[in-house]
Amino acid sequence: ARAIWHQVTTSEFPEFAKASVLMRDRSKVETTIQAMQRAGPEALQVISDFDMTLSRFAHNGKRCPTTHNILDNDLLINDTCKKRIRELLNTYYPIEIDAARTIEDKRPHMVEWWTTVHDLLIQQKVRKDMLAQAVEESSAMLREGYKVFFDRLQENQVPLLIFSAGVGDILEEVMRQNHVFHPNIHVVSNYMDFNQCGELQAFKGQLIHTFNKREGALLHAARLGKLRERPNILLLGDSLGDLSMADGVAKPQHTLTIGFLNDQVDERKESYVNSFDIVLVKDETMDIPNDILNYVT
Ligand code: C5P
Ligand code: MG
Repeated sequence: ARAIWHQVTTSEFPEFAKASVLMRDRSKVETTIQAMQRAGPEALQVISDFDMTLSRFAHNGKRCPTTHNILDNDLLINDTCKKRIRELLNTYYPIEIDAARTIEDKRPHMVEWWTTVHDLLIQQKVRKDMLAQAVEESSAMLREGYKVFFDRLQENQVPLLIFSAGVGDILEEVMRQNHVFHPNIHVVSNYMDFNQCGELQAFKGQLIHTFNKREGALLHAARLGKLRERPNILLLGDSLGDLSMADGVAKPQHTLTIGFLNDQVDERKESYVNSFDIVLVKDETMDIPNDILNYVT
């Protein structure tokens, strides 16, 4: 049924009325969704961040791990290394999410964080054959409603580009263990490079951190081929850096951006509302993306 969006929101989409859903310009959101629906699923692609966007930030009041944090396991690294990696997290994560600093100012710190941690992991000779077990033992979880999200995109042959500054091998394994690593998924991330003995010896390609996704998007655009041609984009992220994930798309027509605001809510609310079309405050579900996809596909 081609109901008008604002009628739909009050009837079929009660989720939109929740206090945790913030929109700078609700009518722009509505017209974009209507335009996406008219163009149909063939014109749509979804571009999403992984850590704390597809995966949960917290569950029952406890933080869930990022793909890097999943590597914090005795199977893979020793105690000294664990301690060092936790110190680095305590130093750099507050910088990453600091509302008072500019992205320009944050960038060199992020490069420092990622390269230091990657060097430590290489020194530990992290073993490929232990990764799956580390993921099993971790408390990583995808957001509630993830199965509907992934399955619907696959069923409608809508490509899903996952653009992650996390660890590619790990996020693939998280999706595999949750039975949602479907063929419509393309991943751009930091992948591990193992030697013949299956020990980590390097990370492949150009480093991706939170605030250089634009460079990554342009670099990988050619490789992504036909994906670039789909003009309508649903973009999901949890960092302002995620907004540049769609910069490799050839001719974007209608773009809708959704930002999960997980942490430092009061400090960052204003900038998130100014930057994303829809902001979801401490929402651990895929309900809103699922509602939109239900309408568009
Ligand atoms: O998938 P996404 O791009 O969100 O992955 C990056 C996230 O991983 C960052 O937001 C950062 O907080 C986190 N990270 C981490 N440990 C590191 C480096 C990054 O938990 N060593
Ligand atoms: Mg993230």
